[in-house]
This record gives sequence, C-alpha cells and structure tokens, in this order.
Amino acid sequence: MLSVKNLSVQFPTDDGMVAALNGMDLQLHRGETVGLVGESGSGKSVTSQAIMGLFKETRAKISGEITFEGTDLLALSEDRMRTFRGKKIGMIFQDPLSAMHPFYTVGSQIAEAYRVHNKVSRKAAKQVAIDMLARVGIPDPKKRVDNYPHEFSGGMRQRAMIAMALVCEPELLIADEPTTALDVTVQAQILDLISELQAETNSAVIFVTHDLGVVAQLCQRVVVMYGGQCVEQASVREIFTAPSHPYTRGLMASMPHLSGEDDRLTPIPGSPPALLDLPSGCIFADRCEFAALVPDNRCQNERPQLLVTGEHAARCHGHEMSLLPKTIKVGA
Ligand SMILES: Nc1ncnc2c1ncn2[C@@H]1O[C@H](COP(=O)(O)OP(=O)(O)OP(=O)(O)O)[C@@H](O)[C@H]1O
Ligand SMILES: [Mg+2]
Repeated sequence: MLSVKNLSVQFPTDDGMVAALNGMDLQLHRGETVGLVGESGSGKSVTSQAIMGLFKETRAKISGEITFEGTDLLALSEDRMRTFRGKKIGMIFQDPLSAMHPFYTVGSQIAEAYRVHNKVSRKAAKQVAIDMLARVGIPDPKKRVDNYPHEFSGGMRQRAMIAMALVCEPELLIADEPTTALDVTVQAQILDLISELQAETNSAVIFVTHDLGVVAQLCQRVVVMYGGQCVEQASVREIFTAPSHPYTRGLMASMPHLSGEDDRLTPIPGSPPALLDLPSGCIFADRCEFAALVPDNRCQNERPQLLVTGEHAARCHGHEMSLLPKTIKVGA
C-alpha cells in the first residue's frame, strides 16, 4: 500500500542544512499497523509529515520515493496532494492544539475537513461532525460541536483530532504520538478507540510512539529509526525476541523491568547524531558497543546498507558480517 524508499529530507537553517531524514525506508501493507519508534529527533514526525505531503511548497529539500497505491506522492502537485490528504491519508498530530485552529469551533473544523472531499451542505456536514464526535466518545456532542478547542480538555481535544482525521475514512492513518500528552487512563481509552475505528474501517495505521508497550499491544510490525534512517524493520515478535541492530538491542534492554519495581529506562549512553554534520560511516557507530568487533574501522568509514532477509531488515555491518553476539539480555 505504502512504500517509502531512500527518502531524504533536509531543512535549510542559518547554521546549514539539517539532515532530518537520510535514506528512510518503510513498507506498509493494507490493514496493517506498524509502529514507528526511535528516540527524540530520530525523524519520526518528519517521516509522517513527508508522507502527508506537508513539505510541498516549503524550502525543505526532498529526494527518494514515496509510493501510495502506485502513485508517486513526491511527484504530485500540492493541488493533487490535497485530494489524497484527509481522504486517503489522515493524520493525528503530536500536538492537537497546534493542529487545530483556535478561532474556529471544533465542529466547524471537522465539518470543513469533511466538506473538502464531500459535496454536502454546511448543515449536513455539521451533522456528520456531531456523529463523529459521538463516535469518538465526546459527551453531549450536539452542544460540544460548537465549542472552541480551548474549551476542550486535553483528552477531548485528542479525541476531536481523531474525529477530524477519520471523518473521511482514510485508508491510511498516521498517528503521531497521539497519547503522550494524556494521563494513563485517557491514553488507554484513546488507544482502544483507534483500534476500534481501525477494525471498523480496515485502515492501515502508522503508529508513532516512544512506548514499546504500546507497540507490543497495537502493532504487527515495527520500524526502528535512528538518525533519520530505518535501522531495523521486522515483526513485533522478532523485534522483541531477536533484535539484530545494536540500537534496537539497546532499546529492548532499556525497557522497564517487567516486575514494575524499577520503571526507569536505562538510556543508551551517548547523544543523538548531529544532523548538521553527519558521520560518513554508520550514524550509530560512536554509540555502538559492537563497532570495535568490525574490522578495518568499517563502521566509522562506510555507511551500512539496509540488508533485507525475508521480512526482517537491518542496517549494520556487524550484523551483516555475523559478528554480533547471538543472544541479548532483554529487560531483567
Ligand atoms: N522545519 C524544520 N526545520 C529544521 N529542522 C527541523 C524541522 N523539522 C524537524 N527538524 C529537525 O529534524 C529532526 C527530526 O525531527 P522529528 O520531529 O522528525 O523528530 P521525532 O523523531 O519526531 O522526535 P520526537 O520524538 O521528539 O517527536 C530534529 O532534529 C528536528 O529538530
Ligand atoms: Mg515527533
């Protein structure tokens, strides 16, 4: 359904070009839920925004390939992209307050999202908005439809965002950390809601999150990002039981202890790569505990390719040369 290949996105800044994506790859099948994980700044949101075509007519420099149902999205004009956005591909943004206009009522924004793709009267669209608010569990939707975003609680705003993203029943939903700002109970409700609506409409979902627990619960497949690249891609089961890439191994080892006694993450030592000045070798090399196992400073000098073995793909010299330890210690 969706294929992202070798996607690069650079932003011009006063300090130079910020290389946010550096050959990103991602595959998605119809009806599937894929988790997109990786630490802050790894390029999860930029990947989502690029698929939504949000960098068209901006100064961002884009290359590579984004194909959706056979259509090359990067080649589309902004006008044609608009016919995909909302209707075929919907997105729940990380921050609902910035994605919703403060001066318009929640209802009118959902109604307008519907009217972009459906020729109906304002009145009919408002009814659709009321129905949609009811469907995402907003109490008293007839009255709430006329509220402004700031009159909603955080959880309600997030629900309204989901209503807006789903009102045209898109075939692909991108949910960019839809629950990070919410408390745990509301989080669980929102996740249930997304799964429910997905089952009803059989849409595919890209689920962006930091939370590996959520991934285990919701996703069939995982794409792990580091420094604007996919470093590993596999089924949830494989990622959790047999991760290949040292970064993924580190992520798994940093999972909260299952006993729940110590729920602090053990972060991987070191800091994320400087996107203004990327190394010519593996982007993870300076934090990698296994780089020294690979001869000839290959990790420092040569960017590894994404090696695809069946449904599992990893980008690592050590893995490719079978130099990594077979087993890892996961959790505690
Ligand atoms: N418009 C922009 N101009 C310049 N740099 C940008 C722009 N948008 C994103 N970036 C940079 O690109 C990198 C990737 O950002 P992105 O928002 O995709 O990270 P992320 O994985 O979503 O992180 P988080 O988990 O914190 O949401 C970051 O270093 C960010 O500062
Ligand atoms: Mg983000």
